[in-house]
Amino acid sequence: MIEAAAGAVAVRVPGDKSISHRALMLAALASGTSRLRGVLSSADTRATAAALRALGVAIPALSEDGAEIVVEGVGLRGLRGDGAVLDCGNSGTTARLLTGILAASATRAALDGDASLRRRPMDRVVAPLRAMGADIQAADPVRPTLPLRIGPARLGPADHRSAVASAQVKSALLLAGLVAGVPVRVCEPRLSRDHTERMLRAMGVAVPTGEAEPGGPAAPCAAVVPVDALRPLDLQVPGDPSSAAYMAALAGAVPGAEVRLLGVGLNPTRTAFFEVLRAMGAEVSAERHAFAGAGQPSDAAGGAGEPSGDVVVRGGPLRGVAVDPELVPALIDELPLIAALGAVAEGSTRIRGAAELRLKESDRIAATVAGLRALGATVEEMDDGLVVAGPTRRLRGRVEAHGDHRLAMAFGVLGALPAGAVEVDDPHCVAVSYPGYWQDLIRVRAAWGIA
Ligand code: S3P
Repeated sequence: MIEAAAGAVAVRVPGDKSISHRALMLAALASGTSRLRGVLSSADTRATAAALRALGVAIPALSEDGAEIVVEGVGLRGLRGDGAVLDCGNSGTTARLLTGILAASATRAALDGDASLRRRPMDRVVAPLRAMGADIQAADPVRPTLPLRIGPARLGPADHRSAVASAQVKSALLLAGLVAGVPVRVCEPRLSRDHTERMLRAMGVAVPTGEAEPGGPAAPCAAVVPVDALRPLDLQVPGDPSSAAYMAALAGAVPGAEVRLLGVGLNPTRTAFFEVLRAMGAEVSAERHAFAGAGQPSDAAGGAGEPSGDVVVRGGPLRGVAVDPELVPALIDELPLIAALGAVAEGSTRIRGAAELRLKESDRIAATVAGLRALGATVEEMDDGLVVAGPTRRLRGRVEAHGDHRLAMAFGVLGALPAGAVEVDDPHCVAVSYPGYWQDLIRVRAAWGIA
């Protein structure tokens, strides 16, 4: 959605996808009435809403303008699956978080998804849940993937060391502990996004955090202390920084262009892309809103401890960057976009330590390399990343998005640059996270006078 603002074109990007999934699930598990504003209405979040409805929760239709929805929670142990098959579509967050919740619930249900989701590894949540006592059946018991059949079970406590920094793994296990009423701690090699922890605290749960072993190698941990009931949510979902990143990237790559991104989530586990864009030569500033409270504007984070604010980006000539592997979890979904910017930046752009990208909605390393090469860029592929040698002055051609929304949007930025001539084979896949993406892109370009 484009709004008029003095001096710069302003864009209000859709609600945060990660926070929207969690808000719907946790409102369903709360005791009492939750009020949620700004929930993302996209294919992924609609899959979560539909799954919760099939589990007996009255979730209203998600509105495209983010209008308030009211959810009557069924309580921590109130979900009723009755053997239903829940279609998670393309959404890994729906599948993995619901696996944790259902494994601990006194009900039976199955989870399935589209061809991409059926290829993605579920062992990272299934193995630790089975170790807690979960009853989860998959066609391949050793390398489980969807569909999964989940039966009722009594789970024991867990202290899990995840091999990957994954908010989906962390959240699935913390939610399983909460529903089962047992303490759970999850440690990971680097801190992944912490929306679940923040939201649970807002609902009255103690979520202690700390290092696995004081004085040992870095391994941030989060734990849940069991409660009888969750307090309902009153939440304004901020704009998704991962969606804002595309508009920021476009402005950043056009010298003289400026964009103001309204009400974007500024949780530090999500904002590393903006640092990278600044390091590449764009001017990036954030005007943080105060946390919500009486009399605060509705944009001002609205509970669940999530900071938000406006992000203003001014374009400049871009130079290549070496992305610090330590930052990877805080910009994991933006890496194809950084690679795309690398193709128009002066010098080389290096991404390493990002093997997880091969396990996303598509193999995002292979697909990014193939797409950029199809446009004429020089790219080297590695097991855990890639190196782009920029700049390529005239990027032109047709790219395959492999049905992956983040690839379609990243290549879309290259197509929206002045003189860009990029055709994306499957533009509709943006519906997964940012349904109005192409319209917003067209209007931003028009506001800057790009023909
Ligand atoms: C998400 C976590 C990340 C991210 C995904 C959404 C979440 O995945 O890539 O788009 O909402 O928890 P991992 O947790 O698997 O890294």
